[in-house]
Amino acid sequence: MDNAPASGSVPAYLNPAILAVFLVVTAIFTATGDWYHAFKMIHVIFALIWIGGGFLLTILGLTAERTNDPAELATVAKQAATVGEKLFTPAALFTLLSGIAMMLNIDWGWSTFWVLFGLLGFAASFAVGVGVLTPLSKQARQIAMTSGPTSPEAVAVTKKILLVARFDMAVLLLVVVDMAVKPWA
Ligand code: HEM
Repeated sequence: MDNAPASGSVPAYLNPAILAVFLVVTAIFTATGDWYHAFKMIHVIFALIWIGGGFLLTILGLTAERTNDPAELATVAKQAATVGEKLFTPAALFTLLSGIAMMLNIDWGWSTFWVLFGLLGFAASFAVGVGVLTPLSKQARQIAMTSGPTSPEAVAVTKKILLVARFDMAVLLLVVVDMAVKPWA
């Protein structure tokens, strides 16, 4: 009985089993199509992880701002910094690379409006991430260490980060609209 899970805890094999079922079904579905659709599947999955995750953080940030609770705001800021670096950055990279892979597989044309809009939206989001959000996050971490994560200075920088992130989210959602509708295609 040594390996029996503690009362109320989930058996350790369950998470890998869920992942395995997902991967097997994905592999079967993907095998029925071609390379283009395999890249499209990767593109859409990583785009939804990236933008869905960002959207959830936007809602959590807005809720924390509305309740005016510095501790909740500090928690959202910490979670946003962690997933931004560890999840959103690689997801954004996979979205871009699979988008380029699809373009090399089929002749949509690089100067088509919806493709250009996607490339520009990605470039704008990348520039805002590197040029604004990363320096602001570093500043927020510094302030949190010196004055505390719930200090008025830390709250002010966090609110600035959340505002910029909201603009970024709007641009990314517009790219999703653009990709789905393909205006003037
Ligand atoms: C912010 C970055 C991006 C996001 C969020 C995004 C999102 C999406 C979504 C949701 C779709 C599915 C639309 C559909 O099947 O109707 C899609 C399709 C596609 N995207 Fe993107 N995309 C991004 C960037 C790019 C870039 C930079 C390229 C080109 C280099 C690109 C090329 C494509 C192509 C070729 C399709 C497939 C169109 C089709 O077969 O109907 N995407 N994208």
